[in-house]
Amino acid sequence: MNNNELIASLIHIDGVSEADILSLLAQPKDLGYADVALPCFRFAKALRKSPVDIAVDLAGKISADLPPFLLSCTALNGYLNFKFSREDMAKETLLKVKREGTSYGHSDLGKGKTICIDYSSVNIAKPFHIGHLSSTVIGGALSRIFRTLGYNVVGINHLGDWGTQFGKMIVAYKKWGGGMDIKKSGVRELNKLYVRFHEEAEKDESLNDLGREYFKRIEDGDPEALALFEQFKEVSLLEAKRVYDRLGITFESYNGESFYNDKMQPVLDLLSERGLLVESEGAKVVNVGEDMPPCLLVRSDGATLYATRDLAAAYYRKKTYDFYKCLYVVAYQQNLHFKQVFKVIEMLGEPWAKDLEHIAFGMVSLADGTMSTRQGKVVYLEDALDAAVQKAKEIINVKSPDLEGKEEIAEQVGVGAVIFGALQNNRIKDITFSYDKMLNFDGETCPYVQYTHARANSLLEKAGDFDPTKADFTSLENAHELVSAIASFEGAIKAAADKREPSIVTRLAIDVAEMFNKYYIDNRILNADEGIKEARLLLTFAVKQVLQNALLLLGIAAPNKM
Ligand code: ARG
Repeated sequence: MNNNELIASLIHIDGVSEADILSLLAQPKDLGYADVALPCFRFAKALRKSPVDIAVDLAGKISADLPPFLLSCTALNGYLNFKFSREDMAKETLLKVKREGTSYGHSDLGKGKTICIDYSSVNIAKPFHIGHLSSTVIGGALSRIFRTLGYNVVGINHLGDWGTQFGKMIVAYKKWGGGMDIKKSGVRELNKLYVRFHEEAEKDESLNDLGREYFKRIEDGDPEALALFEQFKEVSLLEAKRVYDRLGITFESYNGESFYNDKMQPVLDLLSERGLLVESEGAKVVNVGEDMPPCLLVRSDGATLYATRDLAAAYYRKKTYDFYKCLYVVAYQQNLHFKQVFKVIEMLGEPWAKDLEHIAFGMVSLADGTMSTRQGKVVYLEDALDAAVQKAKEIINVKSPDLEGKEEIAEQVGVGAVIFGALQNNRIKDITFSYDKMLNFDGETCPYVQYTHARANSLLEKAGDFDPTKADFTSLENAHELVSAIASFEGAIKAAADKREPSIVTRLAIDVAEMFNKYYIDNRILNADEGIKEARLLLTFAVKQVLQNALLLLGIAAPNKM
């Protein structure tokens, strides 16, 4: 049993299970009061007592017979506060990390539950730009976080591969593409053609009609149109996968919008049967309430929409995966879209409507606009990664010119910095990227955390094998906060999952790195006396392991040398 389980077994409240108590135990922000606390507010109703009195009663009972691993048990403002014997906590925590290694933080909390995560979801024949960065890395991190907790995760790349824009692309390609080899020239050239289409269409309205006609041809399965469309898709996916490889991102499904072409009618029929689908100026809509505009599902020319495909996709996912939750990691600009789609499903009486969640995030932009390409303001994610790696290379060349494997480490540091930057703050915040800031080795940055990991590693390498049973844990009294942070890793992963907020893990990694660097300045490690040295090495090991596990959860490499 770990400390929390031991505590849960000490607390007896009528009608409340040990498991419930365990799930309510939490580490307070201010460790001055307690290492772990139980809020008693939830029991007030059942016990018909104030939370303050409940906490006082429990504290009295438990302190009367305090087990040795606890320093104290007290009540304060409705909280039952526990303080651990510091020695005991250090011992339990550090030995656990040593035992569990890379699986420290794992659990089977989510066993038997499936979570669908719709993320990245890039658009075919369009730039994979930094606007898709957050969705990609937040979705990737959430996938790993939920997997670590034992959930079955289905990562879905809901490709934007349907719509009149593909008809327009074909027109542009045929008119101005000059028979270019699509695979060779890539998405950038395609995008130029697309931009040109819009310029020319301003002067010549008829181009738009032609675009619509060509899209109709794709829909009708015209071989020439389909072949071009398939090529657009192939080259886009090839380029996207290059980026996914660098970011360590994988998907279980690439079913995009076009996959739902034949799956929309049944949902539309269902809506009609229930009388929910109504005509409005020739179009078909669902009135989703006073607070929102109607959800448009079929245009007057018979064309379906983005929302129609999302409705079909939700049904398909429920049927195929029987998800416990289905998350959509998409920018906040689409708040209304998801509110409407979820509402329609709720109006259809589906009990799982409540399990659909829009995981919104803010905008990403670059501080130094130097990256904008000639085509406009679009910044390709691949260019952003290259620029960060280039900067990392320059820094490493100055800092550690003799480092072995510099190229690979520069890639890990540069790409890591971009990922970290997107996962560092609450996801809803807009972020402005600055390469200088995110590659600064001192500060709340990725290289700082990676460097701390490498430093801990080199300390351990220098020390060689050591015997943890010799560790004198009383000597870690002054590392209590750091030990607590290490102990809170499991809780941080759970909180990150509950709040769908990977930044909680990022924050913990930064805290552990900062505390360890401070500790390292104030305490000798390698030439400390026997017993003390082993304890400090064990602490160093735990720091290295937690940093590594945290970085991997975020999708960032933890190089052993920097
Ligand atoms: N392709 C869309 C875009 O880039 C995002 C799709 C998100 N997923 C969904 N099921 N709607 O804006």
